[in-house]
Amino acid sequence: MWTTVFVTLLAMWEISLATPELGTAEEYDFKIWMSKHNRQYDMAEYHQRLRIFTENKKMIEIHNAGNHTFTMGLNQFSDLTFAEFKKYFLFKEPQNCSATNGNHVKGRGHYPDSIDWRKKGNYVTTVKNQGGCGSCWTFSTTGCLEAVTAIATGKLLYLSEQQLVDCAQAFNNHGCEGGLPSQAFEYIMYNKGLMTEEDYPYEGFEGPCRYDAKWAAAFVKNVVNITKYDEMGMVDAVANHNPVSFAYEVTGDFMHYKQGVYTSTKCHNTTDMVNHAVLAVGYGTENGLPYWIVKNSWGTEWGMDGYFYIERGKNMCGLAACSSYPVV
Ligand SMILES: *[C@@H]1O[C@H](CO)[C@@H](O)[C@H](O)[C@H]1NC(C)=O
Ligand SMILES: *[C@@H]1O[C@H](CO)[C@@H](O)[C@H](O)[C@H]1NC(C)=O
Ligand SMILES: *[C@@H]1O[C@H](CO)[C@@H](O)[C@H](O)[C@H]1NC(C)=O
Ligand SMILES: *[C@@H]1O[C@H](CO)[C@@H](O)[C@H](O)[C@H]1NC(C)=O
Repeated sequence: MWTTVFVTLLAMWEISLATPELGTAEEYDFKIWMSKHNRQYDMAEYHQRLRIFTENKKMIEIHNAGNHTFTMGLNQFSDLTFAEFKKYFLFKEPQNCSATNGNHVKGRGHYPDSIDWRKKGNYVTTVKNQGGCGSCWTFSTTGCLEAVTAIATGKLLYLSEQQLVDCAQAFNNHGCEGGLPSQAFEYIMYNKGLMTEEDYPYEGFEGPCRYDAKWAAAFVKNVVNITKYDEMGMVDAVANHNPVSFAYEVTGDFMHYKQGVYTSTKCHNTTDMVNHAVLAVGYGTENGLPYWIVKNSWGTEWGMDGYFYIERGKNMCGLAACSSYPVV
């Protein structure tokens, strides 16, 4: 009998050693998430992250129980507060976003109901990951120039974000602190070239400029800005020309986006509030709701294989505040 008690006690002790935090359902979910996302914390941080994760998870569940056009889900950001997320991934301050009078020339105004540049040919590179650096504007820039170049030449190249992070400061860009695709296109035009991802790989932090003209792989002849808030100008450009870079305001609900058409009543719609840049690769309509198809730079685990849909036609979250594309 004593042996049984002893063995039982020993077994319990072993369990508690192996899983010192075994307890609540929240901890169980958190540990599964931690192992999926390869997270490790010390004890103090573990408890802090557990609390944030649990709050995020609750918010996701409440949202998904409601009647919305998009769903939320756990992802690699689920242990962060929005304040932390903002600090690591978004612009640090307002950018000089907007063109009062853009130079995009509209076509004849008869647009297809939907368009998806991912399906029209080999024009869009795979989704990349900016990591913990506010360099979204460099990914929006490369994504657009990659597509425009591929449409013109038939060759899809992977272009360098790191060159833009390190070298484009003279055009009001600020490395990991933010920048704008229109200003990055200007830089590439004046610099007379952008290197490839392979020759100037991404690091995710700012360093000295190592551009070498000998390895220039993509070029910009002209920069086209779409007049601020002219969302039909964006439709025209995407329908008649190529994918288009744009910026908008990310708010707390967007961090947890999983799928469907994102709409928000929390975000602002003006040029001074945009804090993230991405790439519109097409548009469509779902259950009567028009949307943009957008390539993000938070890896393929986020959203719909790294993409999201956002409502089209309302300047949602300021998405028509400053859009642009290069001519090659
Ligand atoms: C859900 O929302 C849609 C669009 O806002 C609305 O048409 C529909 O009636 C709502 N359904 C329910 C069950 O509330
Ligand atoms: C906006 O433009 C002005 C004038 O060119 C410049 O001094 C300022 O640094 C710019 N702001 C940002 C955030 O780039
Ligand atoms: C487009 O925008 C960039 C930066 O935002 C600006 O430097 C450039 O002058 C604009 N181009 C035109 C043609 O307005
Ligand atoms: C921003 O949203 C408000 C409220 O919906 C609207 O009245 C306003 O026209 C919008 N402004 C722009 C620039 O889209």
